[in-house]
Amino acid sequence: MSPAAHVPVLLNEVIAGLAPRAGETHVDGTFGAGGYAKAILESGANVIAFDRDPDAIAEGTRLADGSGGRLTLVPERFSRMRQALCAQDVEQVDGVTLDIGVSSMQLDQATRGFSFQSDGPLDMRMSQQGESAADFVNTADEGAIADILYHYGEEPKSRRVARAIVAARPLERTGQLADIVRKALGHHAGMKKDPATRTFQAIRIHLNEELHELEGGLEAAEQVLKPGGRLAVVTFHSLEDRVVKRFLRERSGSVPAGSRHLPIAASGPAPTFEAVAKPVRAGATELAANPRARSATLRVARRTAASPWTKSQQGLPA
Ligand SMILES: C[S@@+](CC[C@H](N)C(=O)[O-])C[C@H]1O[C@@H](n2cnc3c(N)ncnc32)[C@H](O)[C@@H]1O
Repeated sequence: MSPAAHVPVLLNEVIAGLAPRAGETHVDGTFGAGGYAKAILESGANVIAFDRDPDAIAEGTRLADGSGGRLTLVPERFSRMRQALCAQDVEQVDGVTLDIGVSSMQLDQATRGFSFQSDGPLDMRMSQQGESAADFVNTADEGAIADILYHYGEEPKSRRVARAIVAARPLERTGQLADIVRKALGHHAGMKKDPATRTFQAIRIHLNEELHELEGGLEAAEQVLKPGGRLAVVTFHSLEDRVVKRFLRERSGSVPAGSRHLPIAASGPAPTFEAVAKPVRAGATELAANPRARSATLRVARRTAASPWTKSQQGLPA
């Protein structure tokens, strides 16, 4: 079965926030099926689009070929956008957008191993490289599995699930893992949410280092956006949104900067983003048409002219 087309979430709101104009240059950090990139191109702006998934880049070739040189595809993590832009002699851009998480193509294709709803190999790697979900569940120790389920899946019974996973090794298929979690937690028809949801989310976030990438992507956006440049970030669960909210509150001067372990400076570095407007969520019409929009949150912010914060200004080792 061919995967369902990815329906971009909060598209009108993202484009309103980015306000792209002809001749500008925008970064789409998460190209996916190109929904945002296409809309930015329609404004007449140029787009440099990143995706760490080689399939997404390959699928986007036709759009790039028909763009008259205005769409450049980069098979790279968005946390490395500054280095990748430098390599193309681009120092600053007018907009950066990040649409965090997996695409419908990744989720719906059983062979990618992201879904507990269809059986496939336990993979879950966006970049199709490195440690797979099978490697992780078959080799990590029980405590490490439990910690990941607890922190990245907010699974309250993480120890019970980790024990069941270790007892059932070796695991090779998504269906096997889903059944083990359901048995460990109890599952009955009519349950609102499949009990395997949290475990699959946690393993995916861990393997793809998604929260770390998000932090790196926000810092990279701070470095590459020109004064007045716009940042738009769409997240799909509270763990991700917390990272974005914290970053923007700190960088707009709404909370003191620095580590909890350091004395708070009387006045922090100059804000790199203007005070942030309220988060945007999908309206009733979009919710009716696209269930994925249910948990989406968009935050938009405008870059000031201040220099990007250094590591020590962030309370981090240099
Ligand atoms: C939700 S989809 C984006 C959909 C896109 N906005 C559209 O309209 O079609 C997320 C995409 O971002 C990619 N991705 C996730 N994390 C990434 C990262 N750190 N660097 C680059 N691409 C990433 C995924 O491979 C996936 O294709």
